[in-house]
Amino acid sequence: MTEREDAQPVAVLGLGALGSVVAGALLKAGHPTTVWNRSPGRAADLVGHGAIPAATLAEAATASPVVVLAVADADAVRAVLEPVADALAGRVVVNLTSGRPEQARDLAAWTARRGGTYLDGAAMSGTRAVGRPEALFLYSGSRETFDSAGPALRSLGRARYLGADPGTASLHDTALLGVNLGLLTGFYHAVALLGGAGVPAPDVAEVVTDYLPFAQGLLAEHARQAELRTAPPDEGTLEVLAAAVDHLVATSAGLGIGTDVPDGIRALLERGLRAGHGRDGLPSLVGVIAGTEVTR
Ligand SMILES: NC(=O)c1ccc[n+]([C@@H]2O[C@H](COP(=O)([O-])OP(=O)(O)OC[C@H]3O[C@@H](n4cnc5c(N)ncnc54)[C@H](OP(=O)(O)O)[C@@H]3O)[C@@H](O)[C@H]2O)c1
Repeated sequence: MTEREDAQPVAVLGLGALGSVVAGALLKAGHPTTVWNRSPGRAADLVGHGAIPAATLAEAATASPVVVLAVADADAVRAVLEPVADALAGRVVVNLTSGRPEQARDLAAWTARRGGTYLDGAAMSGTRAVGRPEALFLYSGSRETFDSAGPALRSLGRARYLGADPGTASLHDTALLGVNLGLLTGFYHAVALLGGAGVPAPDVAEVVTDYLPFAQGLLAEHARQAELRTAPPDEGTLEVLAAAVDHLVATSAGLGIGTDVPDGIRALLERGLRAGHGRDGLPSLVGVIAGTEVTR
């Protein structure tokens, strides 16, 4: 453990895959860290690295002003917090457990009634990167609460505050899951397609990595166009792109591989064409998905 001026005592409740790396990162960053888990035996490694084991849930909940939760789901959060509800006054509860926006809002209101403050968090980068700058954590709830837990939260990775509504972090979590899976399933299709032609998967990864900055570079401009509800065909019209995806479907089918991924994209483009966006660009699909219209 390294000494630091802004060391912030933290208790971590739940030492599963996420909770243990969170506790490990806090310890490594020099924050006195108390740990507790429902089933015994999961704290041993962390205690070996300087964590303070709490003998009981009550001891854990009262050990520090910041209480971090990483348990299975919202029901488990309630199961952990309810027995120690009276101990939450004046404490910050940071809940990294995944859940739905309304569950986050309910937990925030429940915590406030006990005199505590609540911050909802979403761990966006799995467990391996936790404690490093490439790990992204999203938070929502009161800004003051976010700031007060700042030193501890920044030890986990990049801490991005999204707003006062406690439900915002989990809404972003679920939206980003869609982005990640859209990207990865597109990549897996490319691995299967090119693999059928003898290209090794690592080579596919290399060329895709080279290509991604182009796609990433489109995000801000397409977002601007979506806001303005315009969709110039800078990257091709929907008509042209639909024909290109037809080739992707046909080539995939010809090689005997699944067409699930391009079929989904083709179906969306078809809806765009039917809505009259054949001469518009890709950002017109935002309106097609959202059920709003673009102007031309
Ligand atoms: N792992 C990841 O990469 C990752 C990334 C982002 C978000 N998350 C989210 O983080 C949360 C934890 O995930 P995980 O991967 O750490 O899960 P995990 O390894 O399965 O651990 C689950 C933890 O929840 C505890 N738990 C379950 N039910 C409980 C209850 N009723 N009362 C008290 N404790 C209870 C378990 O305690 P026992 O040991 O006693 O069973 C264990 O500590 C989930 O909501 C997950 O979606 C995980």
